[in-house]
Amino acid sequence: MYAKFASVGAYVPKKKVTNFDLEKIVDTSDEWITKRTGIKERYFVEDEVTSDLATKAGEIAIKRAGLKSSDIDMVILATITPDYFAMPSTACVVAENLGIKAPAFDISAACTGFIYALAQAKAFIESGMNKNILIIGAEALSKIIDFKDRTTCVIFGDGAGAAVISATKNRDEAILDIDINADGSYQDYLITPGRGVKYGCDTENIYLQMKGNETFKVAVKTLSQSVRDILDRNGMTSDNIEWFIPHQANYRIIDAVARAIKMPAEKSVLTVSKYGNTSSASIPMAINDMYEEGRLKKGDMMLLDAFGGGFTWGSALVPFGGE
Ligand code: COA
Repeated sequence: MYAKFASVGAYVPKKKVTNFDLEKIVDTSDEWITKRTGIKERYFVEDEVTSDLATKAGEIAIKRAGLKSSDIDMVILATITPDYFAMPSTACVVAENLGIKAPAFDISAACTGFIYALAQAKAFIESGMNKNILIIGAEALSKIIDFKDRTTCVIFGDGAGAAVISATKNRDEAILDIDINADGSYQDYLITPGRGVKYGCDTENIYLQMKGNETFKVAVKTLSQSVRDILDRNGMTSDNIEWFIPHQANYRIIDAVARAIKMPAEKSVLTVSKYGNTSSASIPMAINDMYEEGRLKKGDMMLLDAFGGGFTWGSALVPFGGE
């Protein structure tokens, strides 16, 4: 049995926040943010939480797969902004919202969360244990951002993206390969120190902290290696890829990795200007944009990559299996 990427869906909250809006809150400028990151605007939740965003994205993905809630036999949700600190998992809340009675759990792999979820769904389906798994990346990052810290608050945004991964006997539509990695020696580079049992509810340190410059360098190095490795071991080059759909953290990281594998600019999908860095949601949100614009066709080979806190990183070769 093989696993195929059967459908995609996404949702962003209504409130759009431009760089000019942020100029009024911190000492920054549209020019600096655009030049250093490529970001122009992002969306922030108002009265919604992560499970609300995830539910809406999941509902669309299930419908587009031509399925009903009762067909979904597992929910895997990647997030670093769960509704609750320990339990219930956000996946359980979303499953209930969608009327799904099936195993549901969260995974924590920061911005690489969607690729980790994809790897798990692929393994469960190939083992014969599941037939239709809903995977979701969903984040309300505005809730863990320090709006006094200009080095982080201009980067992140909120949103959710989802996909249904389904069993197939057709090898041509199978998810080809996934590469996932982690290196905990970088644990202090991207961290929310005051949100866990180690430091308790330390109100001084409740927000996300990032060593941006160092993170940037490790991201470019590890991602370039990961995408090169996955292409090499499958005997592929950028010629075999229709769309390079990377995690949307910073256009400079995307550009550097694209250059490393000689990916033509017209194949690189860039949505960071519209949404900012939405962590685990960014890849499915970008796939969804391509789908809704009518640019992504059934059978198109997608090269995905992502990098995030932990550090975690990875890449995947995925033919789009939706209609
Ligand atoms: N507005 C204006 N100036 C800012 C600013 C802001 N929002 N944030 C930082 N600066 C200033 C710094 O204070 C520094 O000033 P100085 O030279 O007077 O000390 C200057 O800009 C350069 O800062 P630096 O941190 O070296 O910038 P950079 O080119 O590395 O860009 C990031 C910063 C965060 C955009 C970049 O490091 C990055 O994208 N890192 C990776 C982030 C990432 O991907 N994180 C998530 C992983 S999923």
